[in-house]
Amino acid sequence: MPLDRDVQVHLLPKLVPCGSLAGGLAVVVDVLRATTTIIHALAAGCTAVRPCAEVEEALELAGSMRAGRVLLGGERGGVRLEGFDLGNSPREYSTRVCRGNTLVLTTTNGTRALLCAAQAARTLVAGFVNYSAVCEQLRLDARPVHILCAGTEGHVTLEDTLLAGAFVDFLCEGAEVRLNDSARLAWDCFENHGRVLVGALELSRGGASLRQLGYDEDIRTAAQVDLFHLVPEVRRDPLRVEVGAVGIAKSHWQQ
Ligand code: MLT
Repeated sequence: MPLDRDVQVHLLPKLVPCGSLAGGLAVVVDVLRATTTIIHALAAGCTAVRPCAEVEEALELAGSMRAGRVLLGGERGGVRLEGFDLGNSPREYSTRVCRGNTLVLTTTNGTRALLCAAQAARTLVAGFVNYSAVCEQLRLDARPVHILCAGTEGHVTLEDTLLAGAFVDFLCEGAEVRLNDSARLAWDCFENHGRVLVGALELSRGGASLRQLGYDEDIRTAAQVDLFHLVPEVRRDPLRVEVGAVGIAKSHWQQ
């Protein structure tokens, strides 16, 4: 890894200084559940994910695409939207449902964070479920790193901060890096909670609201470290997420 690399964590999209992602390598994180769901959908055979900030925009985009080859997915308040094919539970995105389809996705926080992160030169999509695969891309690409957490409705969340801290932990191993204060906070968070992942996710704001909605199993699904070895990556014209790098040399999970 290069010396003196800048590694910044942004605990919320609104804390990203204007223009600061330009030229950088961004990693977007919404553990519960948007980025976990995107990884599941691509692993299950979706050809691409088209992120939309607004429900209307998603409906319009899906309506303009070839019928039978598009899935409309997403949530508001954690619940599937009326008229949508799927919600935002990663467990809904099976191979039978996904294969060969483009997913048009809108979620409360995650797809917005993704659109913000797409300002970077390169943008990767991360969850615990593809942790080591993302780590390997972070090692191979020398650009300054920006880890962007989606949070929940403008609040910092434990689960996203924890995963950001796990990436900081990896990036600091045997390398000289310059961290911002949020990266230090995230790293501390990982040191304290990384060993009790499911428990920490259950405790978090996002986890508590998923439990209230009966989505307890999604928390355990999101905590499955290295379930997949693929890295979704933003492509442009049109803006979409597709499978980028695939494969890991080894697991980098160290708790
Ligand atoms: C979001 O994008 O706000 C989340 O993924 C919400 C959810 O858990 O569905």
